[in-house]
Parts: sequence; structure tokens; C-alpha cells
Amino acid sequence: MQKINNKILLESIKFAEGEFLPLQFIEKQELIEEIVQKFDTLNNIQAEKIESADMEIDDNMLSQFDEPTEIIQEGIQPQISDKSISNWQESTSMLELSNAVSGCMKCKFGETRTNIVFGDGNPNAEIMIIGEAPGKNEDLSGIPFVGDAGKLLDKILEAIKLSRQDVYIANVVKCRPPGNKTPTEDEFAECLPYLKKQIELVSPKIILTLGAVPLLALFGKGYQITKVRGQELDYNGIIVIPTFHPAYLIYNPSAKKYVWEDVQKLEKIYQNIQSEK
Ligand code: URA
Repeated sequence: MQKINNKILLESIKFAEGEFLPLQFIEKQELIEEIVQKFDTLNNIQAEKIESADMEIDDNMLSQFDEPTEIIQEGIQPQISDKSISNWQESTSMLELSNAVSGCMKCKFGETRTNIVFGDGNPNAEIMIIGEAPGKNEDLSGIPFVGDAGKLLDKILEAIKLSRQDVYIANVVKCRPPGNKTPTEDEFAECLPYLKKQIELVSPKIILTLGAVPLLALFGKGYQITKVRGQELDYNGIIVIPTFHPAYLIYNPSAKKYVWEDVQKLEKIYQNIQSEK
């Protein structure tokens, strides 16, 4: 375990079975204890922390500690009882919320998921990106937008000089719909309150919605992506810019120019917000 400016860098937690959790950056010792305890009691396995033996710490890693940020436990699926999701509304941080809903079985997608795909990026970001639902790669990794559409999204962000650490990414639906079917309003009804809570916690200045599903989820029927893309909509005082989904661009590359226009608009609004600070 390494201490940097009184913050703890925990490389991994080793379980009795020999499984390793992914690299975690955690700020507080209490939090580490809490996570270890939770896994211990909930999964009924012996967890032991292991020392970060030969961890190389570079400037990039250290910069993550400049601002207090939360790193979500991607891909971790503690089996928490239904009781724990009853008071998720009271969560005051993204980590708390992700833990509270991690055992969710409110809809049928819970039965077939590998991982809940809760969110990624910086929960304190001023820009939030909302997609549709996890696909196969996301289901396997527990991280949103890691497949082909995700790679394209990363390139789009890069084009406006943003990385995942500048944004918070979430989907309307947190578990993969079997066969990657587009979720209907009924199917995302149980999940939508989680997204709304995520928006409340991030409190972004701008939201970029990708494709028709997040548009429907936030604004209801009557907003067609082909008609409103690139416009500035308002969601509870937050600027929303709808654009096409990156997966759509893979099959319709001619639509890339519209997404380029839309994200340039986002960039301009973001820069204005920065300059007004
Ligand atoms: N498409 C989405 O809408 N979300 C993902 O996480 C991946 C693909």
C-alpha cells in the first residue's frame, strides 16, 4: 500500500480464491476497509489486502489525486440483497449509489447480465455523456463504451481535446439487453431513476445524449433525434445537446459530419462556461 499526500493507493484486493479486483485508487483508509468488509460479508469469502509491491507511480497517476475524485469499482459485482437497493435514493456519492444498486434485479435484464455497467469517468465532471445500454463488451467488462462504438466515442472526445477524465459517462440502461435490442420505454422504466440520480450527483453543466434512447428517456416522446440533433435543449436547467449514437456512425459514416458539428457546439459552450469562471 502506498501513501501519497495522505491518500492511499490500493493496487488490488486479493480474494481467497485468487481473484484480483482491478486497480483501484481510493482516497480513504475507511473506504478500503468498508469495501473489504462488504465483500467479505456479502460474498462470504475471505478477503485480504495485498501490498502494492513494485508499483510505479508516475505524474499521471499522481495528478489523479490533485482533486478529490471518486473512482467507481468497475466490474465488481458484490451480491447485495434487495434491501440495499431500497434506499439508494439517499446516496450522496456515486460510489455509494453504485454500491447501493449493484445487486439490482428490478427488471429481467438483471437475470442475464454479467456485470452492471454503472458509469465511467469523473463524477465531478461538467460534461456528462449519456448512451443507450451496454453491449457485449461492456457487459463483460462492466465499463461503458469499451467496444467499437466506445472507441469511436473516445476519438470524438479526443477531437475536442477531452478525455474520459473530463466527462462522466452513463447509460440509460445499466444491464445489457439480451441480443443488444434497443430497450423500450417499459424496459428502461426501472433503470431511469438511477440515471436521474446520477445526473443529480454529477450536476453537469452540459449533457451530450447519444442516439434516440437517452432523448426519449429524458424528454419523452415528441423529440426525434434526426430533428433535434445539435439543438440546445434544457433538462432541469442543464444544457442538453443530442447527437447521433457512435454505433450509428459505424454504419452511416456520412453522418459523422453532423456529430462533428454537434460536438464542436458542445466544445464552444464548454469553453464559454470555463471562461466565465
Ligand atoms: N452503446 C451504448 O449506448 N452504451 C455503451 O455502453 C456501449 C454501447
